[in-house]
Amino acid sequence: MGLKPATNPDVEAVAIELSIDGKSVTAKDGVSLYDVISSTGKIIPAMCYHYTFDPFGSCGMCLVMQEGKKAPVRSCTAKATAGMIIRTEGDDLFQARKKAVEKHLSVHPLDCPVCDADGHCELQDMAFQHGVTNLANAKQKFIPEDTRSPALDFNMNRCIACAECINVCKDVLMIDALQFMKKGGFNQVVPKGDLALSCEFCGDCLAVCPVGAITNKFSKYLYKPWQMKKTTTTCNYCGDGCQMHLETKDAEVVRVTSLLSWKNKWGDRADTGKGHGGLCVRGRFGFEYIDSAARVKQPLLRKGNQLVEVPWLEAMHQVVEQFSEIRRKHGSDAIAGLITARCTNEELYLFQKLMRTGFRTNQVDSSARYGHLNFVHASRHALGIGRSPNDWEDLTKAKAIIVIGSNITETNPLTAVRIKEAIRVYHAQVVVIDSTATNMAKLASHPVLIKHGTEGLVIDGLVKATLELGLIDEDTTGKYPKAFEALKAAVAHVSLEQVAARTGMSVEALKTTAAIFAESPRSIILCAEGIVRQPDGYQNVLKLIDLAWVTGKLGQPGCGVNTVTEEPNEQGAVDMGVAPEFLPGQAPFNDQVARDRFAKAWDVTLPAAGSGANLVEILKGCKSGKIRALYVVGENPLATLPASMEVRAALDRLELLVVQDPFLTDTARMAHAVLPACTSAEKDGTFTNLEGRVLRVREAMDPIGESLPDWHIMTAMANALGCQWEYESSNDIQAEIMKLLPGYYNLGQPRKVVPTVGRYLSNGYAVEVAGRYRAPASSDVKSQRPYGLLMGQTLYHSGKMSTEAPGLIKIAPNTGRLWMNPQDMKQLAVSEGGKVRLTSDRGSLQVAVQSDQSVAPQTCFFPEHFNEPPVKDLMSVQVDPTTGVPSFKRIGVTIEKA
Ligand code: SF4
Ligand code: SF4
Ligand code: SF4
Ligand code: FES
Repeated sequence: MGLKPATNPDVEAVAIELSIDGKSVTAKDGVSLYDVISSTGKIIPAMCYHYTFDPFGSCGMCLVMQEGKKAPVRSCTAKATAGMIIRTEGDDLFQARKKAVEKHLSVHPLDCPVCDADGHCELQDMAFQHGVTNLANAKQKFIPEDTRSPALDFNMNRCIACAECINVCKDVLMIDALQFMKKGGFNQVVPKGDLALSCEFCGDCLAVCPVGAITNKFSKYLYKPWQMKKTTTTCNYCGDGCQMHLETKDAEVVRVTSLLSWKNKWGDRADTGKGHGGLCVRGRFGFEYIDSAARVKQPLLRKGNQLVEVPWLEAMHQVVEQFSEIRRKHGSDAIAGLITARCTNEELYLFQKLMRTGFRTNQVDSSARYGHLNFVHASRHALGIGRSPNDWEDLTKAKAIIVIGSNITETNPLTAVRIKEAIRVYHAQVVVIDSTATNMAKLASHPVLIKHGTEGLVIDGLVKATLELGLIDEDTTGKYPKAFEALKAAVAHVSLEQVAARTGMSVEALKTTAAIFAESPRSIILCAEGIVRQPDGYQNVLKLIDLAWVTGKLGQPGCGVNTVTEEPNEQGAVDMGVAPEFLPGQAPFNDQVARDRFAKAWDVTLPAAGSGANLVEILKGCKSGKIRALYVVGENPLATLPASMEVRAALDRLELLVVQDPFLTDTARMAHAVLPACTSAEKDGTFTNLEGRVLRVREAMDPIGESLPDWHIMTAMANALGCQWEYESSNDIQAEIMKLLPGYYNLGQPRKVVPTVGRYLSNGYAVEVAGRYRAPASSDVKSQRPYGLLMGQTLYHSGKMSTEAPGLIKIAPNTGRLWMNPQDMKQLAVSEGGKVRLTSDRGSLQVAVQSDQSVAPQTCFFPEHFNEPPVKDLMSVQVDPTTGVPSFKRIGVTIEKA
């Protein structure tokens, strides 16, 4: 332990000089000698080492000669010290390493022809490199394969006991699901307690295993490495934007591998702040939706009660005819469009352009409306920036992190790994405030369980505690004395005792959190679904900005108020202008200068300033009959929104519902026309991740059936409507975006965003802030029903798309059960699998229950990915008056034993 460089970004390790193969090398004192050697570009063999965790020193391959020592030393576990004289080459070292390979091979089955790692095996490479041809005293282990896990098989006959799997799981992921156990005379890797593997199934252990001892159940025996095409692309599940290799064989997706691998074992741990290259379960094992048999392979048109397969030409002809007819008869505002933030930037850009220039309507919205726009609007309003200001590296190197209203390990697992890195490597203080006992809370220095729906009140308490304790930054507040006085007056009535009584967060915890945040040099707030997808989300983000302002954290390097995006391209959807309030580049739709610029670039007259409708207004318009035709790309409002939104009735009234989707979703089943769209594996483009980084999406295979990329379908539709678009590839669209939004792509690096508070604090802040701290934190606080029903994302799924991936369904099927705290179940006298009646102001249903320790007492949880039973229909919807964001993920309920 302790061999790694700088464990504190503020303290640089002392520089030392040593000699490697006769050359003088400068290094950091105390780091692994192996890292120093590899930093010179010299790669010596190493089978148990990976730079992301501390060295283990078991394989005996990284041997070097150190002057003054008789025997070779293991360079991975040796510390670099000043004056060392090291030799890394020579016949003696070659022979010693060869002996180590022979030792490993002598207990290794030579079943390479059927091993998944054939061609990607470090032991194979080492045997080859060292010319191992003869094995004296070879013996077989005959250990039965452990196939109990739903995703991974463990073949311990092939294991070389390098512990990389154990170390990555324990050190990097802080999950610690594996261990060594002596069984049958051999040290074997087993899931903890030798039970069936129960973990997050990220597959990072599989990635770092240098041999084929851990295998992927979903691709086993399906390929030989040379048959595969490997495409580096971006994951299509969440806004972390992980890079992955999608490996295909003909028209089949065989597996996903990560940048993290035993092959990239050389690096500086300080670099892992940018990501360790691993994936989560969704990214690694959720690929089977791509070539699923359930894909829509041909266009469908409604004929009578049936959706019937038709040729593309017929489908497009009818769709365009009907859109045109409706526009002719009822005007442009009889048409509206919704699109998913799983589309690429180029497609999102084209979609809003098609709606605004082809259909001439500003009734256009995306799934970013489900929450992310609360953050964007608050941050733009106060700071002039429409996204999170900090990147992963800032998060890793922060000294204080407040995670509020975010089950980050479930929604954005790789952002969670950055926080784990902050805890483990940089010893950050992490305060997790949530109404669920989240996984991150278990690792945090300060876990705080609060009553559901009280996040807003907690923020009131944090601001108040900051002022009471004088934790303010006078330089900052002194610049805006009137604003500061207004804030003080606004929170004058807030009593920490009352906040504590209502939220469950003690006065002491409020004060400690305020102090940790204010006193740390680099402090980050991360808020997510528990803030931005809830009522008052917009105001609550503004309150967090107040907190960051008075403590002097706004605009300071490594500090800021951030959020995460649950879908891969929510940020891109906003940046590309898929919202009635924004043109591309988040230019306000009503801003005349911006309007003129885009009207000129697109050579059209834009829909009138002040016109437009967002998601909720569009659905209302459909229901009232004002909107007669709806174009839905990848969205599924029927399956997402609760019954109280009356989506079915709204869609039923439409004269034309066109759904463009890879799958026949609930919404698509109601459509008049279904256009088969490709998944992101079949097209090129880009996503903008939660850091603002624009990442490449690359075509890994031909489109399935007759499906087409969304941009291609939109281009065809626009041209049939009379536009003259000449895009032949997503690159053509990119070229147009580059001209209109210079610097947006920025070679994959997020553009730096610098908050400016002056305009906000000097203009109307006093009036605005007076109301902010009087608003009810959430209607749920007032609910008379004793339990809180929460719906949200789980680690193994993402929206509804992941439910089309058999692997993820195998790992996490819909149990149809409500998750409850065991204490509550005991109190209600319901046992595991027993039934309860769940009643909200919106309805009642019977549901079986399962116990879950992470669910706080007096709350219950149902995964939002499943509608069987239709728990979502118990939710009511509250629409934010400023941002139009509909909140429907939490409600008060009564639970009785059925
Ligand atoms: S899959 Fe991930 S969580 Fe599970 S044992 Fe492997 S590294 Fe650990
Ligand atoms: S299973 Fe693989 S990674 Fe784990 S100890 Fe064995 S060889 Fe190493
Ligand atoms: S963290 Fe998000 S982007 Fe990364 S692999 Fe998982 S789902 Fe994909
Ligand atoms: S890499 Fe050093 S002992 Fe294995």
